[in-house]
This record gives sequence, C-alpha cells and structure tokens, in this order.
Amino acid sequence: MTTATTALRSRHLLGIEELETAEIDLILDTALAMKEVGARPIKKVPTLRGRTVVNLFFEPSTRTRMSFELAEKRLSADTLGMTTVGSSVTKGETLSDTARTIEAMAPDMIVMRHASSGAPHHLSRVCRASIINAGDGTHEHPTQALLDAFTIRERKGRLSGLRVAIIGDLAHSRVLRSNLWLLTKVGASVVVCGPATLVPPGLDQLGVQVTHSIDEAVDGADVIMMLRVQHERMHGLFLPSVREYFTFFGLTPARMRRAHPEAIVMHPGPMNRGVEIDSEVADGPWSVILDQVANGVAVRMAVLYLLAGGEEG
Ligand code: CP
Repeated sequence: MTTATTALRSRHLLGIEELETAEIDLILDTALAMKEVGARPIKKVPTLRGRTVVNLFFEPSTRTRMSFELAEKRLSADTLGMTTVGSSVTKGETLSDTARTIEAMAPDMIVMRHASSGAPHHLSRVCRASIINAGDGTHEHPTQALLDAFTIRERKGRLSGLRVAIIGDLAHSRVLRSNLWLLTKVGASVVVCGPATLVPPGLDQLGVQVTHSIDEAVDGADVIMMLRVQHERMHGLFLPSVREYFTFFGLTPARMRRAHPEAIVMHPGPMNRGVEIDSEVADGPWSVILDQVANGVAVRMAVLYLLAGGEEG
C-alpha cells in the first residue's frame, strides 16, 4: 500500500527509476483528469498560460514530439521546437552551448530527446528550467512507460498482479528499462523475452523472469508488449536474418492463442510489421496501440502540469 501524494518531489522528470510509487499513481490519476479535457469540444485549459516550453529533439520522433506539442498547446503554454536538422548543432555546437543559449531565453521547461544516455541529466545540471526526458539513448523513456501504465490500467483496471510479457530487442530499448522500473514498482509480474544476442546481462537480477521462448513468455499473459528491433542502434551482427527473427520471436495470431483470452497487445511504435509483429495482431482486436498514442497526450499534460507545480485548477 502506498501513501497518496499531491506533488512530485523533483522539478525534473528524468526517469522512472527516481519516482516513488505514490508519484506514479499521482501522474496516472492526474492524466485521467487531463483525458477528460481532451474529450471536450474545446480541448484547451489555461493551466500553463504564460509559461514557455522548449522541445529539443536531437533524434527522430513522431509520436513523442507531436504528443508533447499537443499537450503543451492544450495547457495553453507557449511552445518552441528545435530539431537537429536546421539548427546550429549541425555546425558543431556542443550540447552545453545549445542548452545555455536556450536557457538565456528563460524557458520554464525543456523537453529533450537525445541519442546519448544521460543527456537530459546533464541539462538538468546546467539549466534552471525543468527538464523532461523524452528518451535518452538506451537509458529511459519515462513518459512512454507512464502512458503504457495508464493504458494498461484503463483496460485492466489495475497494474498489480498482472502478468506482463515484454518481447523483442531488449538490449537497445529505453522503453524496456522505464517499463521495468515502473511495472516492478507497482507489483506487476514481468517476463522478458528475446534472442540471447539481444538480452543484456543482469536482467534476471531486476526481479523479472527471463526467457528465450516467446511461447513461454506469452503463456497466460494479460499484457504483451512488443519492442521494435532497433537496427539503427546495432553495430554488429545481432540477428541471422529478419525472417528468422520473425519465425522465432514474431507475435502471430497463433501465439496470441496461448495468452489470456482477454490479453491486450501493446507496442510503443514505430512498428516493424512482419519483423516483431504480424499485421493481423497489430490491427486485431487485441491491439491497444492507438490507445497508447491517444493516452500519451493526457499523460504528458499531467507531467507538464505537475512539474509546473500543479498550481492552476
Ligand atoms: N514511442 C516513441 O517514442 O515513438 P517516437 O520515436 O515516434 O516518438
């Protein structure tokens, strides 16, 4: 049992590792109220009026970037965006210099995605603004895990006691790491599965079951979370072929029959259809993949609101 809390302890959201269970509950409960705002004819509240949020994306993104931008607009924040292409980063400017330059314009919050693990932590030490990690290297993607938890709770009514199978490229996944922190904190039972070349050592010491058999992983699962094969982060031969990967680790309708009859299928996106997931599953009745995207806006509104101090009603 956790004690209810009404505020986050830190002014940054750098990872799920640092959050207490009560803070996770607070974000998910706040997101529920934010989702109601998104269902109104006029989807806007004045909560962050007069606040400036800068979105710094040093890596490609569709879902996270648009979701944060929409969340900021729904909360009436002034927003600015910067991607690597078209910025002075391409002229050799360092991350610290870019950060100090942006800081000079006095933003209240900076949302950052970066290819290097720990980049947002560095920013939090050199900037006065609140920093939100929108995915750093292979380290964490906290708002993804929060929107995943929100979606599971919405569908299943709880997180504790559920059997969650996480399958795919475990070695390169920040989504995995954030989800492991979150799901183990809230009492879910987690099994992870992938080929030996894509399972980092020491996972079994994090309180999760590790298997190389997808059939074993999905057996009786309430939630199946598929992870993308991240070819762009693989520097070496991790897989014999995509075809062989799909044969041994792809989620197919036949494999879905081993799961709980009311199991849900999740994927953070972008998906590699025919690599980690069959289109029949991705688009089938089990899939909550687009719910995840929709819920991402509410969860990010909740995070922005709480980091701003939760001042406005
Ligand atoms: N899930 C996720 O982070 O997707 P994007 O890379 O499109 O933001």
